Amino acid sequence: MSAPADVDRPHVLVLGGTAEARALAAALVADGVAVTSSLAGRVSQPRLPVGEVRIGGFGGAAGLAAWIEAHRPAAVVDATHPFAARMSRNAAQAAAATGVPLARLARPGWSGHERAGEWTWVADVPAAIDAADAARRPLVTTGRQSVGHYLSAWAHREVVLRIVEPLTDPAPPAWTVLRSRGPYDLPGERELMREQRADHLVTKDSGGTFTAPKLEAAAELGIPVVVVARPDPVVGVEQRTDVPGTLDWVARALRG
Ligand SMILES: NC(=O)c1ccc[n+]([C@@H]2O[C@H](COP(=O)([O-])OP(=O)(O)OC[C@H]3O[C@@H](n4cnc5c(N)ncnc54)[C@H](OP(=O)(O)O)[C@@H]3O)[C@@H](O)[C@H]2O)c1
Repeated sequence: MSAPADVDRPHVLVLGGTAEARALAAALVADGVAVTSSLAGRVSQPRLPVGEVRIGGFGGAAGLAAWIEAHRPAAVVDATHPFAARMSRNAAQAAAATGVPLARLARPGWSGHERAGEWTWVADVPAAIDAADAARRPLVTTGRQSVGHYLSAWAHREVVLRIVEPLTDPAPPAWTVLRSRGPYDLPGERELMREQRADHLVTKDSGGTFTAPKLEAAAELGIPVVVVARPDPVVGVEQRTDVPGTLDWVARALRG
């Protein structure tokens, strides 16, 4: 899809796929900024932001740099999910190559959650599998990209996998695959864990409130929680944790 037609308005590229990215796009458009939001195209019925939308990968950092050269946004905001590490690296490389200002918008993680000290924090999914090895029926909510690890380690164990999009291959017979997309609430999460007889929760530090009720439900039911920590932020990229702070950054970037 082409850049917004009105070339007089400043143009911002928002790398999206999150609620924060949609909120940012809406706020920028309301401020008279021309926004192109970019989605990876993984979700069959994505929630679309206001403004222009392009869908699909750019073809690595070089492809993104070429897109930036062609469309000349005045600023880029990487508002992808905190675990979209490859896209964040690509954005940093493309910004360095093209000179466009770049900021990262990522909601705060759950390390400040009042129960964070009760959880087992691990660096990655293989470590989460080790940490939850005593589980008989874990509820796994670490997302599509992590499924291969569980298939390797836990194909013969009862696993309750909650995921947004269907698996491409049939799940092992011992698994229960639940397809849903948040937000979730505490009564629903409590009910799910009881109904499914979950005895561990394996999650990742997505942060925010939309998927946080599972943490409280697990605590109420005495279910141990294993949390995969976030990938490190890309060094040298401006970090923002909320939409207002990002709007301030964009305003400064547009003033040059
Ligand atoms: N990871 C999660 O847990 C999670 C959760 C909720 C939503 N999401 C959203 O889902 C999308 C994919 O996440 P991921 O973890 O698979 O990313 P990733 O591993 O960091 O990125 C893999 C590749 O997907 C493409 N891509 C990712 N985000 C894109 C975007 N916003 N626009 C265009 N291309 C994009 C890029 O392809 P090219 O190299 O070809 O450009 C990138 O190299 C992101 O938009 C993210 O915000 C992710």
